[in-house]
Amino acid sequence: MTEELQKIKRDDLFAEWTKKIPESEIRRLLRNMTKYYFAGGLPGLLPLDVFSKIFSDLSEQIAAEIKTNEGYKKMLTFFNYGPTEGLPALRKTLAKRMVQREHLPLNPEEDWKNVIITTGSQQFLYLVLNVLINPGDVVLCTRPTYLGFVGPASILDARVITIPTDTDGIIPEYLEKAIDLSIKEFGKKPKLLYIIAYSDNPKGTTLPMKRKEAIWDIAETYDILILEDEAYKEMQFDRKPIYPLKAFDKENKRVIYGTSTSKEAAVFRLGYTYMPPAIGEQVIKAKGYQDLCTPSLTQELTRIYYENYIDDALKHIVGQYEERGKTMLRAIAEYMPENGIYTKPTGGFFVWWEDAANPEFNTKEFLEKVAIPNDLMYVPGQAFYPISGFDYLPERNELIKTRPATNGMRLSFSLLPPEDIEEGIKRLGTLLRQR
Ligand SMILES: Cc1ncc(COP(=O)(O)O)c(C=O)c1O
Repeated sequence: MTEELQKIKRDDLFAEWTKKIPESEIRRLLRNMTKYYFAGGLPGLLPLDVFSKIFSDLSEQIAAEIKTNEGYKKMLTFFNYGPTEGLPALRKTLAKRMVQREHLPLNPEEDWKNVIITTGSQQFLYLVLNVLINPGDVVLCTRPTYLGFVGPASILDARVITIPTDTDGIIPEYLEKAIDLSIKEFGKKPKLLYIIAYSDNPKGTTLPMKRKEAIWDIAETYDILILEDEAYKEMQFDRKPIYPLKAFDKENKRVIYGTSTSKEAAVFRLGYTYMPPAIGEQVIKAKGYQDLCTPSLTQELTRIYYENYIDDALKHIVGQYEERGKTMLRAIAEYMPENGIYTKPTGGFFVWWEDAANPEFNTKEFLEKVAIPNDLMYVPGQAFYPISGFDYLPERNELIKTRPATNGMRLSFSLLPPEDIEEGIKRLGTLLRQR
């Protein structure tokens, strides 16, 4: 076959989106390891002793059960396909936690039925977009934003509009103006706003209560859905109960809430959600076609962990993440160039640093030419922009074609111990100053 023919075949073979959308920058970077690794949001502290105990206790329990006929039958069911929406026992446990820790307005006795388990919260994002978005629909998100949201949104051909953020997260005034412009220019209001209120990825910001109230009011006024992703809600340094936007949603009609267990136990690949029932129904239908069900084994392990161990395990771990975060902030203040601005996270895994004085500085180029050869890795800011879409520009009150800023970087402090964080930031700062 000629080369030309082969090319035509290839063009016919793959769906259009595969030609437009590259592999995620983070997945690409995860293939490399460096000594000073500030790239992926990888948990560096896990309660492995607790997990090991849960595994061996469960294994003993199964061995005891299968000795009787009845127990054997019970285990046969457990080792089989489960319900697409997840095991009831886990959904009940998580419904209780969402009330205690997150103040969600639900009645665990009844509303656990609206809790849906997903295979990672990445699946939650994909499924929700999948059931809501038609090509050309408008979705709103922060600038920069989590690429696990913008990737699926672009695959589904949504029009993504990004809204500016500062060191407190999204700026509500600009959100409202962008909604008005969407109505004016595209003839439709946005379908949803994607938001991370606690320890955002990539900037590490947490929305102050006033901003959450303003966002809620805007969503109510314009009747826009909120897609809330609180993947870092268990990783809050003060460990106080939290108030996501979902806590405002007394009637369970506006906020599609989802979270992950990955930051405390990535091995389980388990996310969970609480959303308006009509949307949940469609999500379960789509999930059925995607994975049939999330593995029952990891659901049961998660249930045991959440019912008996999580708070004690996290007390210890979250304190250490806080120390890592503080070490990174101290090292940034001491070693990074003075003209940088950076966020000061109160939870989660990330600090965002940008060279405020040099908008032309290209952190991607610097990563490849300077940082990686010096055993350093971070995620360049460009990775957190949509592949195509629009930016709301406050200076001109206009929507322009999206233009990734090149001068930012996401620095993760989750993986390395404090001494390596200190040494790595010192190296990075020295190299940046030499530039
Ligand atoms: C904001 C955010 N949402 C979702 C995810 C995906 O999480 P999961 O591992 O549960 O699929 C991540 C992972 O890093 C994340 O940072």
